[in-house]
Amino acid sequence: MPAVYMDQHPDVTAFFDAQSNTISYLVKDPASTACAVVDAVMQFDYASGRLSYDSADEIIAAIQAQGLTLEWIIESHVHADHLSGAPYIQQKLGGKIGIGEHITEVQDTFGKVFNEGTEFERDGSQFDKLFKDGDRYHVGEMACFALHTPGHTPACMVHVMGNAAFTGDTLFMPDGGSARADFPGGDAGQLYDSIQRVLSLPDDVRLFVCHDYGPGGRAISWETTVGEQRASNIHIGGGTSREEFVKMREARDAQLSMPALIIPSLQVNIRAGEVPRDAQGNMTLKIPVNKL
Ligand SMILES: [Fe+2]
Repeated sequence: MPAVYMDQHPDVTAFFDAQSNTISYLVKDPASTACAVVDAVMQFDYASGRLSYDSADEIIAAIQAQGLTLEWIIESHVHADHLSGAPYIQQKLGGKIGIGEHITEVQDTFGKVFNEGTEFERDGSQFDKLFKDGDRYHVGEMACFALHTPGHTPACMVHVMGNAAFTGDTLFMPDGGSARADFPGGDAGQLYDSIQRVLSLPDDVRLFVCHDYGPGGRAISWETTVGEQRASNIHIGGGTSREEFVKMREARDAQLSMPALIIPSLQVNIRAGEVPRDAQGNMTLKIPVNKL
């Protein structure tokens, strides 16, 4: 595990998308005007097939208002519940779009589900950077690294930036537990092992989750710590064993229905947020029947 720089405290601003309960983040290096965006959202209205950009526009406005330079646009994984706003933000502000190198497995799996032709490249080349486990990078002067955390999906990564870590869907808030592990390529045992890696970070590392559903009617929240998760996460805190976790996770996943936007999300997100086009160049999505 690369060293964590606990003395580097990034300014983290959260943006909540109520359609998918996703939290996107603007992360600013405390020592410069450099910043990164994590898990940006593009809204999609299924009934009309219309895209909108309210959430991404808010992030863009915040970056511009503070005169920041956007260096990285990070995807924690291929999201199945919302469309990525990464290319929209990149077009306006620049920055490199990065995801885990195992995106190629996800592209391969869903390339088949959506019967994508040979023109759909399954080598991750739609992204600017494919992170390997333990890869280090910088946002301005802030030391960052990516940790491979498969289980929810094969390409999941947790990004550590200074003393903050962005968990994607590896962990939710302590009362929210963990994410499902039943999508193609998911695995509850792997998820347990990945969570243990996150919990091996220093206790005071600030954790920022990608989703929150406000369990029991509490207000939406997104920030916790490694120490809090280790003590009280309802799925894994207090020393839950791998076997107990796998049993709980698999029983729970068997009850879950598919996310409302999984079909459009996957087609867009395996292309780094670009909407596929038909032979005439029109943005078009498919609905494969009885495939998921
Ligand atoms: Fe996810």
